[in-house]
Amino acid sequence: MSYLPIQQVLKQAPVGTDVTIKGWVRTKRESKNAVFVAINDGSTIHNIQAVAETGQLAEDTLKLITTGACVAITGQLVESQGAGQAVEVKIANVQIYGSADPEKYPLQPKRHSLEFLREIAHLRPRTNTFSAILRVRHALAFAVHQYFNDNGFYYLNTPIITASDAEGAGEMFRVTTLDAIKPPLTEEGKVDYSQDFFGRETNLTVSGQLEGELGAMALGKIYTFGPTFRAENSNTTRHLAEFWMIEPEMAFHELEDNMNLAEDFVKTVIRYAVQHCADDLAFLDNRLKEEEKTRKKEEQSEMGLLEKLQFVISNEFVRLTYTEAIDILVNSKPAKKGQFQYEVKWGVDLQSEHERYLVEKHFKKPVILTNYPREIKAFYMKQDADGKTVRAMDVLFPGIGEIIGGSQREDDLDKLVARMQEVGIEPEALWWYLDTRRFGSAPHAGFGLGFERLVLFVTGMGNIRDVIPFPRAPKSAEF
Ligand code: 4AD
Ligand code: MG
Repeated sequence: MSYLPIQQVLKQAPVGTDVTIKGWVRTKRESKNAVFVAINDGSTIHNIQAVAETGQLAEDTLKLITTGACVAITGQLVESQGAGQAVEVKIANVQIYGSADPEKYPLQPKRHSLEFLREIAHLRPRTNTFSAILRVRHALAFAVHQYFNDNGFYYLNTPIITASDAEGAGEMFRVTTLDAIKPPLTEEGKVDYSQDFFGRETNLTVSGQLEGELGAMALGKIYTFGPTFRAENSNTTRHLAEFWMIEPEMAFHELEDNMNLAEDFVKTVIRYAVQHCADDLAFLDNRLKEEEKTRKKEEQSEMGLLEKLQFVISNEFVRLTYTEAIDILVNSKPAKKGQFQYEVKWGVDLQSEHERYLVEKHFKKPVILTNYPREIKAFYMKQDADGKTVRAMDVLFPGIGEIIGGSQREDDLDKLVARMQEVGIEPEALWWYLDTRRFGSAPHAGFGLGFERLVLFVTGMGNIRDVIPFPRAPKSAEF
């Protein structure tokens, strides 16, 4: 039986034609004369209503049409008598694909908490909220590829299993086939990784950047878009142990070019979502408004979701140096009143409370901070002439904090090697990375956008675990 996605039926099927729809029952309602079934197939936020006259359907069939059951319905598309929908399907035939015992099916047609839905991540895509998020997520991913393709970038697939720690933070998941209970040992009593699958210690990648740089030094402009893993034990609403990162890397780009690209890129993909996900974003906008009503007045945000997205697209990001930002923070009200949890002074890594103060209170706009102290940034960043700062840039967003981190790269071999030695990275271990500085080195720059942080921002959700289908976080890898 051929069928049409509900999205297409609602948009383009002419009234009067026979259609077949297939999907999951959201609700069933019986009145004196008729039974109304709302069906959703995930192609759109909108349900389609199917109607049968009372007594038309066999008792056995009617009993199986319950929330969560999967059905195929054929019938004529007619103008709806009721309010709320323009058309509906006059049921001629129902086929039950799979029933869903109402006593046991966990998703009832009522508002469930996000915490509860996280426990049933295998079923939550069947809710309005999560199907909307997943469609927006898809649109953003598509927009990412489209943006880079349109701008002359090549999609480079960097390895997921690596032997290096690109960020030097040591927050890695080991990949091994050695016996966990009795691994082979060296004479000094350490685990002998030379006997491991790859003949050395390996881990899941924390970033594709180092290999991305190799690509940029050959293809000019590349980007990666792949899974990234961090074993940081931070149980926050903005961290995942497995997340997707987009990392463009460009030859002949310096810090300023990098900022220009980051700003244009993030605005373009958000604009794409606004233009192509109107129904889903309208739903999420509404969801957020309802949620805000339950908050205290001073904790409610000044803008709705759609307003906020429009605001980001149409305003220039503020650009300032780390040093200027520290000045603002040190002289801020919360600093003077001791309201920041973490101390703020030149040299410290900014905490999210500081980032959010700058973005949400001081500038009320997205901010790009540059030229951070070298001590708090990764070894590969280009050193400034003052010997104190590096050409780093972080893009900070309202409600999110850091959404993008990047920099111009150190292209001078001697400076790079000296910096590696300072922070305890053996230059020999990254001989292949250093070769790009030995042979045809060039100024280059790049950045990483955390895809889930972008989806978090665009959907207006509050917890990063709700914008990836199956989140991975400390003590959580069920599905
Ligand atoms: O700032 P990060 O650590 O930078 C890098 O990894 C560079 N190699 C990127 C580059 O220059 N090519 O991470 C980049 C972004 C952050 O700004 C944040 O959006 C996201 O990745 N991110 C996370 N997202 C979710 N969960 C985590 N645990 C994340 N850690 C970083
Ligand atoms: Mg960062």
